[in-house]
Amino acid sequence: MQPTPLDFKKVFESIWRIEKAVLETVDFNEATKQVVNIILTELGYINAGYEIIVLTLLDEQQKTLKRIAISNTKPAEEFLRATPIPFADIIIPLWATQNLSVRAINEKKRFVSENVSEVLVPAVDREWVDNFQATLGIKTSIVYPIIAKERALGTLIFSLSKEEYKITEEEWSILDSFVGAVGIALDNALLFKSVNDSAEKVKQANQRLEELDNLKDEFLSLASHELRTPMTIVKDYVSEILNDKDANITEDTRQKLEKVYSASQRLIALVNDNLDISKIESGSMEFNVSDFDISQLAVEVRDELSDKYSKKHQTVEVQVGNYNVHADKDKIRQVLLNLMDNAIKFTPDNGTIEVSFVSKDKLLETTVSDSGVGIKPEDMGKLFVKFGRIHGEEGMPPVPGTGLGLYLSKMIIEKSGGSVKVESEAGKGSKFIFSLPFSPQ
Ligand SMILES: Nc1ncnc2c1ncn2[C@@H]1O[C@H](COP(=O)(O)OP(=O)(O)O)[C@@H](O)[C@H]1O
Ligand SMILES: [Mg+2]
Repeated sequence: MQPTPLDFKKVFESIWRIEKAVLETVDFNEATKQVVNIILTELGYINAGYEIIVLTLLDEQQKTLKRIAISNTKPAEEFLRATPIPFADIIIPLWATQNLSVRAINEKKRFVSENVSEVLVPAVDREWVDNFQATLGIKTSIVYPIIAKERALGTLIFSLSKEEYKITEEEWSILDSFVGAVGIALDNALLFKSVNDSAEKVKQANQRLEELDNLKDEFLSLASHELRTPMTIVKDYVSEILNDKDANITEDTRQKLEKVYSASQRLIALVNDNLDISKIESGSMEFNVSDFDISQLAVEVRDELSDKYSKKHQTVEVQVGNYNVHADKDKIRQVLLNLMDNAIKFTPDNGTIEVSFVSKDKLLETTVSDSGVGIKPEDMGKLFVKFGRIHGEEGMPPVPGTGLGLYLSKMIIEKSGGSVKVESEAGKGSKFIFSLPFSPQ
């Protein structure tokens, strides 16, 4: 058969097709298979007797060359059927310097041989290959190193049914450009594969983290339940002793018991907050909605807190009126209790706290404002997050708390159809504002 004259435009197009195939194929192995077939098809037009193309890839960790793709040709099929060792198991160790692929990698240049066995030793028995070569009619094997960014990635092996001297100069230059294109394409594909692999790893790690997070939540909720009963017993007995006028205890013991009492109270509050949070996060918290006057509720909460603010000589003003909202009263009590308690905690002696109401776009806005320490702009992000505390940290006077109140309040308000926000200036006080739906009438 007379070789068709070389057409550089066609070669250029072929190279472009190789690049495209690799870039468009997400699966790396699939991409390499396509590469060898494209090369073969593209080479077909010069009728130059290219029978089998094999792509091997360097495994730098194992120090081996692995065959990862073979052309879809008749002789290739015959070889695959007859080979005593499965194609994927034809692994060439890098110490086998008699193998032409190893030499091509080491010396970064192409090798040509009349013997197919030289590309298969030591994985496949030399004698078997020598015998089989005649059946296939292979006369020449060319081994090219695939090089990208000066690194050898693997080899391309061309097996031809013609002698080496019949390969024209032009043909060599086509092969050179093909192999160059495969280098670039393979490099891209490998990069893409490693990115994909990392993405998969990150995904798996995330899944595991999520599982652990759920497990932790479950544990916390279980532990909280178990803690609540004994803590309540401690608290109740201590309270009983403290309230017993006839109790025969010294002043020193009384002070210690008072500390035990408030510590147990704090612990119970922490446990309760935790339980509420796990309930609300898992979506199992029930909301018993009714219509009630929130200003009246604020008055009740103020009375509940009277011990605390009178100790600090603070004034707490509630704007009383007919401010009927539609929500779960007990949960809103919790929100008010936390916001007003915070206002008292973070406001110095003699300060003022105000609770006021205003209607805004079908919602009623409640504002708890104080003349306290305020919040710096850079600390705003720490509010409303679990265990988020700004004050009572290092270098600050200790303020009791868990850092769960605002987080829980925000979730309660949002589940009730409202929203929360805060306005504050350091040293000038804060305003915590939340909205709730009006009652229907
Ligand atoms: N009215 C306020 N003025 C200044 N800082 C506040 C106020 N309310 C809350 N904060 C800040 O937000 C943090 C979180 O509040 P919260 O979730 O209720 O937790 P806790 O009251 O247990 O500390 C507080 O520790 C405090 O630093
Ligand atoms: Mg609080």
